[in-house]
Amino acid sequence: MNDSHRPNDRHRRPRASYNPGAEGFSDGRLVEVHNQLANDKEEPSEGFSLLPVFVVFLFCGFGFWAGLYLTRNSGDFNPGSFDLDAPRAVADNGPKEFEPDPVKGEKLFVANCASCHQATGLGVAGAFPPLADSPWVAGNEERLVKIIIAGLAGELDYKGTKYNGAMPNIGAGLKDAQVAHIATYVRQAWGNQAGPVTDAKVAEVRKAVGSRGAYSPAEILQAHPLETK
Ligand code: HEC
Repeated sequence: MNDSHRPNDRHRRPRASYNPGAEGFSDGRLVEVHNQLANDKEEPSEGFSLLPVFVVFLFCGFGFWAGLYLTRNSGDFNPGSFDLDAPRAVADNGPKEFEPDPVKGEKLFVANCASCHQATGLGVAGAFPPLADSPWVAGNEERLVKIIIAGLAGELDYKGTKYNGAMPNIGAGLKDAQVAHIATYVRQAWGNQAGPVTDAKVAEVRKAVGSRGAYSPAEILQAHPLETK
């Protein structure tokens, strides 16, 4: 506008007496120009150009990568992951370490053994010897695992009381881990205090047992004499 050097011009001039010839602008033209300028401002211009699509993808990709990175390397946001002396978690490949599970052990015992030896482990007088406080159960675990896998038949002495029955080869139809859970349970239930039995041990004993029939008590005691009477 070339009238900037006459700032008061517009105010001095009443609308009605405005002479278009002198300045070359009619009222209508002025309004038009004004509107044009006003409109120009609101149109989206260089300052508001749309984000290029590849930048949006780049940004999303970065977010995704950051998520992956945190998931893998955040150490569960556990402050202990910065403790260099803390024991390392064992790598999750290779065979799993056997974990004795008393709950599984009890379930398997109830399903496979309790019909004869009773859930109390006290057996049935004259027919099924007790497993609670049994010298057959404590001590060397191979004796117990052999009995479970191959069965037991013949005259048997439980703390001076005689039995003469036949126990079937229950463990032949069970997995190594299942036998291990049962054996561990039996060795630690009802006040029994013997160590756990692993599935690896069961596998080893199963090999030694082979496909033979039931042991007699005398035969199994020859290989594994009772540690306590
Ligand atoms: C069908 C009945 C029956 C079932 C089921 C049974 N047993 Fe027996 N069990 C017997 C009999 C009978 C004897 C005594 C065998 C003999 O007189 O020679 C015995 C003896 C034993 C003995 C040695 C004696 C003692 O008192 O400790 C152990 C240990 C044993 N069983 C553990 C088990 C376990 C563990 C299971 C489950 C996996 C089981 N039994 C399932 C009938 C059974």
